Amino acid sequence: MNQETKIIDENIQGQALMRETKNPEGKKLFLESYGCQMNFADSEIVASILIDKGYTTTQNYKEADVIFVNTCAIRDNAENRVRQRLQDYKKIKKDKPEALIGVLGCMAERLKSQFLEQEKLVDIVVGPDAYRDLPNLIEQAEGGQKAINVILSKEETYADIAPVRLDKNGVSAFVSIMRGCDNMCSFCVVPFTRGRERSRDPESIVRECKEAFEAGYREVTLLGQNVDSYLYSGGGLKKEILTPEQKAASTNFAQLMEMVALVNPDLRVRFSTSHPKDMTDEVLEVMAKYENICNNIHLPVQSGSSKVLNRMNRGYTREWYLERIAAIRRIIPGCGISTDIITGFCGETEEDHQETISLMKEVGYDYAYMFSYSERPKTLAERKYKDDVSEEVKNRRLAEVVALQRDSSAVKAKEGVGKVHKVLIEGFSKKSEEMLMGRNSQNMVVVFPKGNHKKGDYVNVMVDRCTTSTLIGEVVG
Ligand code: 5AD
Ligand code: SF4
Repeated sequence: MNQETKIIDENIQGQALMRETKNPEGKKLFLESYGCQMNFADSEIVASILIDKGYTTTQNYKEADVIFVNTCAIRDNAENRVRQRLQDYKKIKKDKPEALIGVLGCMAERLKSQFLEQEKLVDIVVGPDAYRDLPNLIEQAEGGQKAINVILSKEETYADIAPVRLDKNGVSAFVSIMRGCDNMCSFCVVPFTRGRERSRDPESIVRECKEAFEAGYREVTLLGQNVDSYLYSGGGLKKEILTPEQKAASTNFAQLMEMVALVNPDLRVRFSTSHPKDMTDEVLEVMAKYENICNNIHLPVQSGSSKVLNRMNRGYTREWYLERIAAIRRIIPGCGISTDIITGFCGETEEDHQETISLMKEVGYDYAYMFSYSERPKTLAERKYKDDVSEEVKNRRLAEVVALQRDSSAVKAKEGVGKVHKVLIEGFSKKSEEMLMGRNSQNMVVVFPKGNHKKGDYVNVMVDRCTTSTLIGEVVG
C-alpha cells in the first residue's frame, strides 16, 4: 500500500519504537505502540517516567522484565490485533513467570478491569492519564497483585515530563499540545478513552520544541485531537467558563503556532489534527506568514453528505467544509490537503456515498486515510443509530474511495514534476543507501541521490519524475 492511499489499518502494525538506553543494570522494558501519533508521543512519556526510575529499554520482548503495549481502540480490528499480540506475549510467562505484562492507552481505558478479570491477559492496566502512577503499579504487580489505574483527569498534560525520543530518525519529533476531546463525534470512542479536552501550558510546549531543536531535531509536529480548539488560559481555568476578557488574554492555536515558529527558522512546524468546524483564518494567516510552518493541513471530512455529517455530529455541513477548503486555497496557495473518510456510517445511502465521491473530486486531496465504519461501544451512534450498512457495501464503497484517492494522489505527484522542492532529509530511501529521502512542505516524499548530504539537512531538489506516491529528482544549488 502506498503512502497516499493508506486504508487505515496502519495502526494494525504495532511498532516497538526503541532506542536502546544506557544503564545495563536496570530492569528491561519492552514498549510497543499502536494507533495514532498521540499514542507514540505518550509512549515517549512512559519511557521517560520509567527510565527515570532506572529502567533500560529492549527491542526483544523475550528478554524484557516488563512488556507494555500502548493500545488503540478506535476500530474493532485495531483491538483484535492487540489481543493477538497479548496472547503471544503471555507465552513468555512459561519460561519467565516473573515477567509483567501491561496494557496502556485507549483500550485499557475502554475495557478497564475486564482485562484482568475476564480476559486474564495482563497484570497491569493503565489509562492514558495515569502514566505517572506506573512505577507504583509495577511495584504492586511485582508484589503479586493485579494493578489498575484508569482514572481520567481534567488537568493532566504531562507538561513537565521531557519525553524520551523513541523515533527512528532523530529529525522529526512529536509534541503533544493538548489531550482529550470534547467533540463527541457520534462514531468516535476517543472522548470516552481520552477524556475531556485540556490544553498544555504554551511555555512548556515552546521549551520542549527548543530542546528538540538543540538536540538536532529539525521538525516538530504539534499534536492534539482538535488543535484548532487549543486555548490556554493559565490558572487551571476551563475554557467554558472564561469571560470574553479572559478568553482574549488566553493563548489560542494560531498564537501558539507563531510562538513555535519563532523558535528557529530552521525548525519546521507541522500539526495534526485540524477540525473543519474550528479552523480559523487566523491559523491560515499564521501559516502563510512563516516559511517554516509547513503547507499541509490534515482536515478530516468523514463524509461529503450533510445529512451524514449531521448524524455524525460533526458540527459542519458540506458547504461549510468546502468554504474552509476555499479559504485554505485563497490564503495558502499550493497547500497540501489530506483527510479522513469513513464509508458506510449508519444510514449512509448510495446517494450520500456519491456525495463523498463528488466532494473528493472537488477537493482533490493529496492523500487520505480511509476506513469502513466500525461500531464502537458506548458511542452516540451505537446508542442512537442502527449499524445498517452491510459489510459488503461498506467495503465496496471503501474500495471506491480508495481507488479515487489513488488517482488523485497520482495527479498531485505529477503536479510536482518539473519544480524545485525544499526538502528536509530524514534518512536513506527505502530501496537504496545510495539514495536519500525527505519530505517537501506539503508532506510528499522526495527521493534523490545521496551526494554529500545527510539527515537533518535542507536541500532543494529539482524533481524530474514521480511514481504515484514519490517525487524523484536531483539536488540543485
Ligand atoms: N469507525 C471507522 N473509522 C473511525 N474513525 C474514528 N472512529 C471510527 C469508527 N468508529 C476514523 C475517523 C477519524 C480517524 C482518526 O479514525 O475518520 O478521523
Ligand atoms: Fe473523535 Fe471527533 Fe474527537 Fe476526532 S474530533 S477524536 S473524531 S470525537
